[in-house]
Amino acid sequence: MMVKDWIRLIQARKWMKKTGAFLPAWHAYLGYSLDLFDLFHKPACPGCIARLYNLDETLLRRWIEVGLTLGHLEPKGNGKVKSKKAYRRYLSKNSPYSIGILLEEMLELHIPALLDYPSLINQNSKAPYLEKEYGGTVAQTSELLESYAFPKIAERIKKRKAGSLLDMGCGYGGYLKRIYNQYPRMRLIGIEINPNVYQEAYTRLKHTAVEVRHEDMMAVEENDRRMEMIMMNNVLYYFPRESRPSLFEKAADMMTAKGTLLVISPLSNAKHGKAFSAAFNSFLSVHHNLFPLPSIKELKEDSKTSGFKIKRMDPVVKEGGWYLIELQKQ
Ligand SMILES: C[S@@+](CC[C@H](N)C(=O)[O-])C[C@H]1O[C@@H](n2cnc3c(N)ncnc32)[C@H](O)[C@@H]1O
Repeated sequence: MMVKDWIRLIQARKWMKKTGAFLPAWHAYLGYSLDLFDLFHKPACPGCIARLYNLDETLLRRWIEVGLTLGHLEPKGNGKVKSKKAYRRYLSKNSPYSIGILLEEMLELHIPALLDYPSLINQNSKAPYLEKEYGGTVAQTSELLESYAFPKIAERIKKRKAGSLLDMGCGYGGYLKRIYNQYPRMRLIGIEINPNVYQEAYTRLKHTAVEVRHEDMMAVEENDRRMEMIMMNNVLYYFPRESRPSLFEKAADMMTAKGTLLVISPLSNAKHGKAFSAAFNSFLSVHHNLFPLPSIKELKEDSKTSGFKIKRMDPVVKEGGWYLIELQKQ
């Protein structure tokens, strides 16, 4: 063999190994998506499960074969298999510990968008982000961040002794619910544009004093400068850079003097999470209705005209480049 052929072989092996890392994610995603880990909660034969749930037996057997080699499933004799406990716990639809929705977002939304790059770059075009289809998924994955970020938010509320808070783009209202549980006397308002997401937030919060509104945060009429705190969590990428100053102005109009604006967002070019934010930006840039993440410098510039000053910035999830940025109206 020629040296060139050896080099190509080594490189091919290297890249095969790299792409092999995709297999566990695919297997876990499929298991979550069809609730297969749950179907194999006790030893069962693939043929029986395929017949019982009307699934393609050959494809189910392929999923099992991969799962056995990856150690997601275990053989139980007589051709029967069982899912491992951890996979049922974290990847079953009904498990309270389930994180499967994150895999659904990655594999149904992010990876396909990244795979669209060749044609989109060549055609000089962008795809739409299907808000209607994926709004619920995104609201659910955003919730995963809550447990990390909430203690930091609660600390700011306590420190500022805030009596009112408005959540712009509240998703399913998870932050508001947690705040309400801790501070039931606060005036709490959530604004959500997606009708299905709003409906779910409304249902989840209807037995609380939290007010949820189905509105566009850019059009909201609450210009009485009475809110002491406003949050904008994971929403900046819904707005192009040029409209972010108006968004901050909107917040300033609704806020008391010296009011606090809390922003949770992955940042581009920050100290932490550069790889993640670069990948996230790649996903965002495929869509004509989503926009690149801000850098801290841009955030500073865009909020400055409405009188905001950055007071503090803490990482929430370092590897994701997620920060909680506290701004104060001057
Ligand atoms: C990624 S989710 C984040 C939800 C929540 N803030 C969190 O961090 O968990 C962003 C939410 O903002 C909503 N949203 C986007 N643009 C909006 C607008 N112009 N007015 C109100 N809500 C909006 C989306 O529908 C979505 O539910």
